[in-house]
Amino acid sequence: MRIEIRRRKDPAGRPYIVSAEYDNTEEVTVAQALDDLNSGIYADDPVEWEHSCRQKKCGACAMLINGRPRLACDAWLKEFTGGVIRLEPLKKFPVVRDLKVDRSVMFDNLAKLGAWLEETASADSNGVAYDASRCLQCGCCLEVCPNFYAGGKFFGSAALAPASRLIAEAEGDDEKRLYGAYNGHFYRGCGKSLACRDICPAGIDMESLLVNSNAAAVWKRKFRGKKK
Ligand code: SF4
Ligand code: SF4
Ligand code: FES
Repeated sequence: MRIEIRRRKDPAGRPYIVSAEYDNTEEVTVAQALDDLNSGIYADDPVEWEHSCRQKKCGACAMLINGRPRLACDAWLKEFTGGVIRLEPLKKFPVVRDLKVDRSVMFDNLAKLGAWLEETASADSNGVAYDASRCLQCGCCLEVCPNFYAGGKFFGSAALAPASRLIAEAEGDDEKRLYGAYNGHFYRGCGKSLACRDICPAGIDMESLLVNSNAAAVWKRKFRGKKK
């Protein structure tokens, strides 16, 4: 197996490709292969990449693997039968170094949306709130979304999931504020192509989230408005 990596020394540096042969393809993830290369051929100049849990739980290791946004700890070498794997940083976020990107725009958007949970929050083990709460904030959905770009008004599915979690339970003033934010930063910009659904490593059912959140935050609201 040949592993090609698109590297860059710093945000302003020119990207370049390095390539290494890797022998062990049995039950090895891209994450493990990166570790092995970093302690071997790249020991003097390790490839930078973000990771924490290595169990598909933190979302930190998202990168482009043969052009598709995926989690490195959930991509197995044996899946790639063509003999070559190309690793690149996500393209919708600024590169920090090598495969590491700065995803702070995604977290800033959540703050703008007010999408955080209070101490008393809980979720049943089924339903929209539970499904939405599985979001890893990896950013893979933003990578494939045709309408998302950093700094834009449209926040994409990385915001839809937490917003849906809250919309499912919101009441009173919080309900009004959330519905307004959802309309402005998600509903009006989403083309409903559902490319985000097909790429989400957590397997979140975006279609259900969209249907439920649109029903609560848009259609119910319009209907209420007409009745007045
Ligand atoms: S449905 Fe399409 S436009 Fe809407 S968030 Fe998903 S990928 Fe983006
Ligand atoms: S919705 Fe899915 S793809 Fe998007 S950030 Fe959450 S876990 Fe990642
Ligand atoms: S390292 Fe946490 S999801 Fe891959």
